[in-house]
Amino acid sequence: MSRDTAPTSVAERLGHLHHTGPATDMGRLLRRFWHPVALSRELRPGKAKACRLLGETMTLYRGESGRPYLVAGHCPHRRTLLHTGWVQGEDIRCIYHGWKFDGAGQCREAPAEGAETAAKIRVPAWPVHEYAGMIFAWPGEGEAPEFSLLRKDVFERPNGLMFARAETWRCNWFQLVENSMDAVHVSFVHRAGLVGNFGAAVSGALPLLEYLETDAGIRQIATRGPGNVRVSDWTFPNCNHIVVPGVGPGDPWIDVGHWNVPNDDETTTRMMIYSIPSTTPEADARITAYFGEFGDYNPADHHDDLFDRGIYPRDVLLQLTSAQDYVAALGQDAIADRSRERLGKSDAGIVLLRRLCWREMDAIREGRPGKLWTRLPNSAELPTQNAALAG
Ligand code: FES
Ligand SMILES: [Fe+2]
Repeated sequence: MSRDTAPTSVAERLGHLHHTGPATDMGRLLRRFWHPVALSRELRPGKAKACRLLGETMTLYRGESGRPYLVAGHCPHRRTLLHTGWVQGEDIRCIYHGWKFDGAGQCREAPAEGAETAAKIRVPAWPVHEYAGMIFAWPGEGEAPEFSLLRKDVFERPNGLMFARAETWRCNWFQLVENSMDAVHVSFVHRAGLVGNFGAAVSGALPLLEYLETDAGIRQIATRGPGNVRVSDWTFPNCNHIVVPGVGPGDPWIDVGHWNVPNDDETTTRMMIYSIPSTTPEADARITAYFGEFGDYNPADHHDDLFDRGIYPRDVLLQLTSAQDYVAALGQDAIADRSRERLGKSDAGIVLLRRLCWREMDAIREGRPGKLWTRLPNSAELPTQNAALAG
């Protein structure tokens, strides 16, 4: 992969938005942030899985104590995948010739080589932090910044219900981030969702749009009429915080934290946490059952049904909106050709998003400190009654 250089043309500048490898401008920028890389429930103690983040293969494993670790994807000896080996205590042993590594990446044993050789071998390892049903990783170099999450208060409600989901799509991450900055799409992509609880919240009216840079990212305000104002807060560089209607009529609205995490330039995992205040034991049980029944859905598993047969899921909350966004995003190709697009005035959010990314990439390339983004202080300003779905 070639290292990005100062762009000389608009097409080159547009290209810098979607490359995420270690030698690219966006790759360097994204490596300054924590990213969710797996659902906690996917990884039992003593197990390992391969993990792709920003074009790199990594090994995510949980020691027998339950603590997660993230180390290089390939063994440095003859390069086989480390996750196919065995977790032993807090270490992982390679399947091929038994080299054993600890969670900091230090080789502890190389059975056919000896202790002296083992002591000289180290693989990359990255900090991880488990929170809200997800394992987050910091893929940068040097000291990791303190782990921080958008609007921690709503994700740390006492007795609140929390659900985490993941969907992996075969397209570039930036298409999905741009979708979050595109309030007009709600009136079209999600038209088929104008039923039930959503009907009260979403209308086909085209919104008046406002986008503001905040300390955390971009605030998006879409006004579709008196009493129908949707505010969502997007956190730099890839997380959106939205509120969506409850599971059933009268149920509390749901705070959603939604990350678009690049696995590589043509694959993105959407990591989502849903936080719902607890109400009654009956409602809590019903909501929990709903997530159990409908939460395990990925539109990528239904690609041909969606594209060739126009068959959409019937569940409107977790499945339909996801399937609709999937069709719009995958329809742009694996990597959208932005050099051939025709933006209009309603694309102000996308324009602002790109400007912020370019500004921060320029800072890195020129050796200047980028903006110090801070998390949003609380959820008080996000309307939860008139907000419509987005994302
Ligand atoms: S390839 Fe891992 S020990 Fe040989
Ligand atoms: Fe959407």
